[in-house]
Amino acid sequence: MDAARIEEVVGEFVSLKKRGVNLIGLCPFHNEKTPSFNVSAVRGIFKCFGCGKGGNAVSFLMEHEHYTYPEALRYLARKYGIEIEEEKPSPEQQQVMDEKESLFNLSAFAQKYFQQQLHESEEGKAVGLTYLKERGFSLEVIRKFGLGYCPNAWDGFTQAAIRQGYKKDYLLKSSLSKSKDHILYDSFRGRIIFPIHNLSGRILGFGGRIMTREEKRPKYINSAESEIYHKSKALYGIYFAKSAMAARDNCYLMEGYTDVISLHQSGIENVIATSGTALSPDQLRLIRRYTGNVTLLFDGDPAGIKAAFRGIDIILEEGLMVRIVLFPDGEDPDSYARKHRPAELRAFVEEQAKDFISFKTSLLLEDSQDDPIKKASLIKEIARTIALIPEPIARTLYVQKCSEMMQVEEKLLLAEINRVRRDKYRRQQQQGGSSADKPADQPEAPGGGQATPQPKTGPGNNDAQEKELIRLLLHYAEHEMSFEVENEDKRMEEVKVKVVEFILQDILADKLLFDNSLCQQIFDTFAEQWQEQSVPQASRFTEHADAGVRQLAIDLLANQHSLSKNWEHRHRIYVIGEEEDLKPRVMHAVYAFKLKKLEQMIAESQQAIRDASADSSPDDSRLLELMKNNRDLLSKRSLFATALNRVVTK
Ligand code: UTP
Ligand code: MN
Repeated sequence: MDAARIEEVVGEFVSLKKRGVNLIGLCPFHNEKTPSFNVSAVRGIFKCFGCGKGGNAVSFLMEHEHYTYPEALRYLARKYGIEIEEEKPSPEQQQVMDEKESLFNLSAFAQKYFQQQLHESEEGKAVGLTYLKERGFSLEVIRKFGLGYCPNAWDGFTQAAIRQGYKKDYLLKSSLSKSKDHILYDSFRGRIIFPIHNLSGRILGFGGRIMTREEKRPKYINSAESEIYHKSKALYGIYFAKSAMAARDNCYLMEGYTDVISLHQSGIENVIATSGTALSPDQLRLIRRYTGNVTLLFDGDPAGIKAAFRGIDIILEEGLMVRIVLFPDGEDPDSYARKHRPAELRAFVEEQAKDFISFKTSLLLEDSQDDPIKKASLIKEIARTIALIPEPIARTLYVQKCSEMMQVEEKLLLAEINRVRRDKYRRQQQQGGSSADKPADQPEAPGGGQATPQPKTGPGNNDAQEKELIRLLLHYAEHEMSFEVENEDKRMEEVKVKVVEFILQDILADKLLFDNSLCQQIFDTFAEQWQEQSVPQASRFTEHADAGVRQLAIDLLANQHSLSKNWEHRHRIYVIGEEEDLKPRVMHAVYAFKLKKLEQMIAESQQAIRDASADSSPDDSRLLELMKNNRDLLSKRSLFATALNRVVTK
């Protein structure tokens, strides 16, 4: 836990930018277009203010990579070069390992096996490696992408896997093997193997390219969907492209495995491919973690153009920007890259990239130049695409651009776009609304441990006040506040009091308890430790055994600023530098907490009075006592209200 730097761990998967003392990025746990995902390097935690998910480095890995607790620790150990002594799993433990992990393990084994075959077996070298080298791939890039070869024998791989103890069940589930009359054989026989990695470099599945020119068999076959491989959620090459995607704030999206490798070799590293499926919203979510810009690189043939059109719509709909490069008919990015020098390739993709309006108009306008009816339908088509863009400013900019290019009034375009959007909205309403952008469910507390049930919030509940007090303790326990007091010589003197001291004394003196038992637990820990004049470290709570305490502490630590929006607003103190203005905040928090408590007591005492007077034979002396008690409480309340007000207006 000490070695793990949260910003480095999260940074592997999310592109983070510095924002003040924290880092900020797009939340990987829900669909969002503006960043609300915060990482605090100092406190070792992350927190999303959009969906509420939060935690430390370990819980991030568990959530994001679906690791178990030990897997997350293993990952961190590997990352930071810490050795863990582990026993070889026993057959029983092997059985317990969940299916996903088994499939991941099998995929890793298969990748190594195929790679070894490519580089070391006679057939692999003679057929596979020769082919790849003839295509112009360097050994370096062949190794980097982990390419391999599956010999054209019946079951060489299957047998090797079985010898290593991999179960037939998983060989079939991963579709690495197929079965005929209960006999298993290799699915990828005689093919070049392209491993498909996830974001953290684990292997999800494979693509295999045939070596011979056979009409009957498909050129490529791909792993079937499995527990670990979902085609619509994977992008070929993203593991090798992600940092370049973030650095260049753009990515090149293509169709083929070889296109990715070829461009990578030419020095363009922000390249990914959909590998034979239509682009999906999930894939765009993956891209959006690193960049909001996609450039489509497609063949200039009719199929490529059709694919580009589909791609444009879905990219815009997901709120990303899209540009398009079409390669000359008959060329794909790979063949073009092979025929040109890297600098020429780079110049080509940069100069040819068109925004979607120019792209559509240049393609569609060619044959409708002087035909008003065709031109009108082209304008409609472009308006339909612009209408897909969720962001109003971007929409307006495209309207202006289209208006210029097509020489049509903006007003007309806007009317058409609004009509399309209204229709779409109505359709969604009828279908019960779209599922996108809906807030995620309440986050589950990660990392095991039972969570103490949280009290319901609602009227008459002190939750906000209680949490604000705990928040101040967690953030500022040792900050000093200065007070002017009169000393024995009737002279004013400045004394310094720590926040923790002030809060503890005030609450303990009145023997007040928190309604929220999680707050009480944290408060008690502070009280205990303060007897030794020290304060507990944040990690005592963020790594607490109780998942509820953990979650609350993380939430409060992530909340740098007052929980009370109202307070911020009334005092025109906006978010920056709350530690400069700590004293009124702390006093306000204590008074507000006490005031809430008083109100509770008043409500209780008034109920007691009502109960007592409703009695058939009221006990007058008891009633009098109750009323006196109530008056005391009321005058205390007005005292507090004045005190609170003083803090407030100072
Ligand atoms: P292409 O036919 O354009 O192949 O298919 P390619 O990538 O240019 O490959 P080379 O250059 O001929 O070696 C594009 C992508 O579509 C998928 C593969 O992912 C391929 O990379 N595909 C293609 C299949 O899944 N199955 C097929 O039979 C063909
Ligand atoms: Mn090709």
